[in-house]
Amino acid sequence: MTNLNSTQPRSKENWNSRIGFVLAAAGSAVGLGNLWGFAYRSSQGGGAVFLLLYVLIVLLVCIPVLVAEMVLGRSTGSSPFLAPLNLGGRVWQPMGVVFVIASCGILSFYAILMGWTADTFFHSLFFGLPENIQEAKSFISSVSTGSSVFLGQLLSLLLTGIVVAGGIKGGIEKLARWSMPFLFGLVIILAVWSATLPGAWDGYQDFLLKWDFSQLLNPTTIRNAFAQAFFSLSLGIGIMVAYSSYLNKKNQLPKESLVIAGLDTSVGILAGMVTFPIIATFPQVQEAVGDSFISTLFVALPTGLSSLGFTGQIITILFFALAFIAALTSSISLLEVPVSSLIDRFGLNRNKAVILSTIFVFLLGIPPALSEEVFGNYSNIMDVLLLLGGFLISILLGWFVTRKYDEDLANSYTNINVRRYLRFMLRWISPTAISFGLLITLYDLLGLKEIL
Ligand code: TRP
Repeated sequence: MTNLNSTQPRSKENWNSRIGFVLAAAGSAVGLGNLWGFAYRSSQGGGAVFLLLYVLIVLLVCIPVLVAEMVLGRSTGSSPFLAPLNLGGRVWQPMGVVFVIASCGILSFYAILMGWTADTFFHSLFFGLPENIQEAKSFISSVSTGSSVFLGQLLSLLLTGIVVAGGIKGGIEKLARWSMPFLFGLVIILAVWSATLPGAWDGYQDFLLKWDFSQLLNPTTIRNAFAQAFFSLSLGIGIMVAYSSYLNKKNQLPKESLVIAGLDTSVGILAGMVTFPIIATFPQVQEAVGDSFISTLFVALPTGLSSLGFTGQIITILFFALAFIAALTSSISLLEVPVSSLIDRFGLNRNKAVILSTIFVFLLGIPPALSEEVFGNYSNIMDVLLLLGGFLISILLGWFVTRKYDEDLANSYTNINVRRYLRFMLRWISPTAISFGLLITLYDLLGLKEIL
């Protein structure tokens, strides 16, 4: 048996435990994408068809790529910047560059959303909820414009930096260990509470049961399903490479991928079961939803809940606390990509790497903080990069170093049939489906429908 760790360039930290790794990876996956993105994207018209497509993409397309991304990290023991080069040779170097740019890009607008989340949390804690949509809109514009944006973004990045500076065991794993169980508990409690609302059933119907099969041909629905699957799983830009480079052979990656994807999808669906009944119950919420990305949660939820008085305030505070913590366990994974790459490539120490990366990401986030249009463009570009990254990973491990993929899994005692299945999917299904997703995404985003 070959020792896969023998190529490891330097002595590295490791996770404390298997469950620590799984919780950290699930923590990366579960984030604002589940709480906001899921509800928002499925309310864009796709309904249950969006949900079905999303689940199919996760199961058939993403899981093989998720395992591949982990193998890329574990078998090289390298950072996302160097792992493609170390595994595939010089021509694969640009892939590492894409990983680092995309992680910084996503974190730069993610931190802005985190800032809004924190602001809404403090506002509902100290000043109560907005009584009507007008009040809510003036509140959100005060949060989302001017210096408070930078303040929120900066604070979120600082917190992220502090955790990442604590290292793998002392920072990332520790946070994931206490926050993930709390988060699951909270989202379940909130979903149960939402089920007691008078509009609960209507909400579920809109979210889970609205079958309109013509949506299968709607490019926006298809793009949304691909983007949501990749974004929500933190897939395609080296997050799992970074986290898996601190793994040892004991982890059974296919099993763990299933657990991570299962947790992620459950939280997405649960979050929809929290928000859709609220939307259906309070008419003033319906007015705001669909207005813009921001309004869905930042405006609509607190305003709707304000009619419940004190209970509404508690629920809002809990929801935004939940969202912030979920976002933090995701943002740390994004920062770990440039940080581990700087450590690996330039031999910097962790603190220096954290400071440099944080400053860079803050600067990168200034344009989207100033304009909602730039914000939207950033997010669309990143969706494309996620798919592109996922495509490259499936080509590298499915076609060029397939033996490595197989060997790594065999060494961690993965059953031969599982390996055969994954290899087949990674080689044929994932790259084909992702290229299709990429084409549809570009077609939809560039407005080719109008041109062609
Ligand atoms: N998955 C997280 C969410 O759903 C966000 C996130 C963290 C992410 N790391 C990522 C998205 C890497 C894409 C790629 O909120």
